[in-house]
Amino acid sequence: MITDFFEYFRALSARKRAEPSDDLASLIANAQIDGQPISDLEAMSYYIIVATAGHDTTSSSTAGAFWALAENPGELAKLKADPSLIPSLVEESIRWTTPVKTFMRTATADVHFADRHVKKGDWLMLCYASGNRDEAVFEDPFQFRVDRKPNKQLAFGYGAHVCLGQHLARMEMRILWEELIPRLNNLELAGEPAMSEAVFVNGPKRLPVRFEMA
Ligand code: HEM
Repeated sequence: MITDFFEYFRALSARKRAEPSDDLASLIANAQIDGQPISDLEAMSYYIIVATAGHDTTSSSTAGAFWALAENPGELAKLKADPSLIPSLVEESIRWTTPVKTFMRTATADVHFADRHVKKGDWLMLCYASGNRDEAVFEDPFQFRVDRKPNKQLAFGYGAHVCLGQHLARMEMRILWEELIPRLNNLELAGEPAMSEAVFVNGPKRLPVRFEMA
């Protein structure tokens, strides 16, 4: 529950104001803008995004790739034959799964785009999953291709708030696959997979697989 996060981080914040140390929690607790402490809501928002943003996102992208590889043995064979494709697999698995579905933006100016008028102040829902299946940008967007090139996936967002952890996410996933692919002899589904039912961040909830390791 989000309220549990608030409770936990309020206590942490109070502790780090009383006794600051050389860490990120103290930096957030004591942050100021124009000489004024940042608001409680801003501080809590920083704590919560730093603590949660890297969990279901990277695990969902990894599980999404497992699912896709189990259904596409030819793609696994490509990776085993040429492990230099692993960074490309990482990019494709993030596009394929797009774990963060949406964010909102408020237009700061009137814009005419793709036959639509957006007025200053309008709310816009950014649908990352839709953008990542855009047939005007991606060839055969509904196919999982470990060697997709170019791959201008948008799952990390864009602009001032683009994902702060994107390089860490890519590195974590690359290392996992570098260790796993050479040992993974085969992989197949061993039951019916299912996605989690969520509108903000989602990914595979259940993924029964059968595999053999070298
Ligand atoms: C595949 C993995 C990940 C995906 C798909 C993802 C996706 C996103 C998206 C869509 C945003 C919002 C971008 C926007 O508003 O334009 C975001 C923001 C953010 N992400 Fe990630 N993320 C991932 C992994 C991580 C990791 C590993 C961390 C840190 C450990 C992280 C930390 C953050 C933070 C701090 C923000 C807020 C940045 C800001 O508002 O300035 N993310 N991420």
